[in-house]
Amino acid sequence: MGPVSSHTLSDEENIVKVKVVSGDIVMYPADAIVVNLFEGISSPGGATVAVDQALKGLISQLMAQGEIKGKPGEVTVLHTLGQLPAPRVAVVGLGKQKDLTADRIRKAVAEACRALKHAHVKKAATVIHGAGAAGIEPAAAVQAIAEGAILGLYSFHKYRSAPDQGDGEIEELDIVTADAGGVPALEQACEKGAAIAEATNLARNMINEPSNHMTPTEMAEVAKGLAHKYGLELTILDRDQMRRKGMGAILAVAQGSQHPPKFIVLRYKGDPASSHTLGLVGKGITFDSGGISLKPGEGMEEMKDDMSGGAVVFAVISVVARLKLKINAVAICGATENLPSGAALKPGDVIRAMNGKSIEVISTDAEGRLTLADALSYAVKHRFSPLVDVATLTGACRIALGQVATGVFSNNQEFAGKLLDAAARAGERMWQMPMFDEYKEQNKSEIADMKNTGGRYAGAITAAHFLSEFVGDTPWAHLDIAGTSYTDKVSGYNVKGATGVAVRTLVELATKMAK
Ligand code: BES
Ligand code: MN
Ligand code: ZN
Repeated sequence: MGPVSSHTLSDEENIVKVKVVSGDIVMYPADAIVVNLFEGISSPGGATVAVDQALKGLISQLMAQGEIKGKPGEVTVLHTLGQLPAPRVAVVGLGKQKDLTADRIRKAVAEACRALKHAHVKKAATVIHGAGAAGIEPAAAVQAIAEGAILGLYSFHKYRSAPDQGDGEIEELDIVTADAGGVPALEQACEKGAAIAEATNLARNMINEPSNHMTPTEMAEVAKGLAHKYGLELTILDRDQMRRKGMGAILAVAQGSQHPPKFIVLRYKGDPASSHTLGLVGKGITFDSGGISLKPGEGMEEMKDDMSGGAVVFAVISVVARLKLKINAVAICGATENLPSGAALKPGDVIRAMNGKSIEVISTDAEGRLTLADALSYAVKHRFSPLVDVATLTGACRIALGQVATGVFSNNQEFAGKLLDAAARAGERMWQMPMFDEYKEQNKSEIADMKNTGGRYAGAITAAHFLSEFVGDTPWAHLDIAGTSYTDKVSGYNVKGATGVAVRTLVELATKMAK
């Protein structure tokens, strides 16, 4: 394994160890304890009451002064000056009690952990936020806490010579429950949350990795590492093997790059008795310059994230395997760069995808749908069903839904509903876009079966219609994460750079399908 993949997969990274313990949060020995407040109440509730009393009413006083409001995202770090075993208390706002969700808890814990990291806390302890409140099950709250801590403390600083000045590293977060009998069940929820968050951070590592490091070959190396670690079946097709399978569309994109393309398939068989296999297809453009239809220079560096979909499907299948879900699943990623060169694909070229359909290339910058055409054809040929593809596909989707929601497109309303339900449970914003037949018109070509761009209007929808030409009747959903995969601000459990969006939703979908 090369240096990047071994680091990307490493367990020795600064991952906070989260576990469930029984005890009394007020007396708990740690560098800091985390309690909470709802917004719009006049006095603290739950465990916060006891902490407030031990602090001689400090929290209620700050509430009365309006300094602590309990708003979402609010974190107040107090010093206990010997009144409690823990030298610090972090009071996190959970917002209004009636609006509480697991995602609020996830975000609050992430914010609290980052604040405590700045305060050089090594060992933190927390109550189970929202346990019993607003219909949130304690197990769901524990899972959200584990996810919030591990996602919120993520950083990608491997290329810096010196670590962040003045920041510590939280090594341990203990989730404290008064109910000793409940620990085993909660510990299981904690481990599930940790598995999901660690996989999300794996996807983030791959995405944040610059394109000179995260090449198609390196993506294949990461897949190899995952196959080894989780006992997955691995297939990697090189350029010649792809040619023999008729993958003319992804090969056309790859022909401008010096890095050889890799077609990567990771397979998990958790339910050998079943003939069904969930197919997860990820866009794997390790750098998207636009090709001959070159992109403007400003912001082009972000296009190292154009393999986000591939990273996400690798992460999902590794969690599915780690959790030993009773389901068959496969992750497929056609990895290549999109670069201009004397050998590159040109506007006007006509190419043929694996399913035999011909495509007139109008813009070489609409390369994602070309690579996905072959990846989806491959999935259909192997009868994987249902199918979900994940792709940083269109700037148009980012214009439509901003950096808040992922666009969902589907040829099957029942399956789309399942996916949207999974997204809601996972706390990821997803929004379905229409796929009315009238839009298909825009992809018509004079000289081929279709063209690869549909004009200025409804660009995210025409891209989805293009993809639908390669899935036939297979139930399929397409997630356009162009707006949500990458963020330029620290907020909740996201930090600057890759978000790993869609991992939680797809793990939730697989978990539900496995039942
Ligand atoms: N990777 C881009 C989409 C993208 C844009 C992702 C901005 C994240 C941020 C994709 O390959 C692309 O270039 N799409 C073109 C399609 C167009 C040429 C039809 C676009 O959106 O401009
Ligand atoms: Mn492009
Ligand atoms: Zn792209």
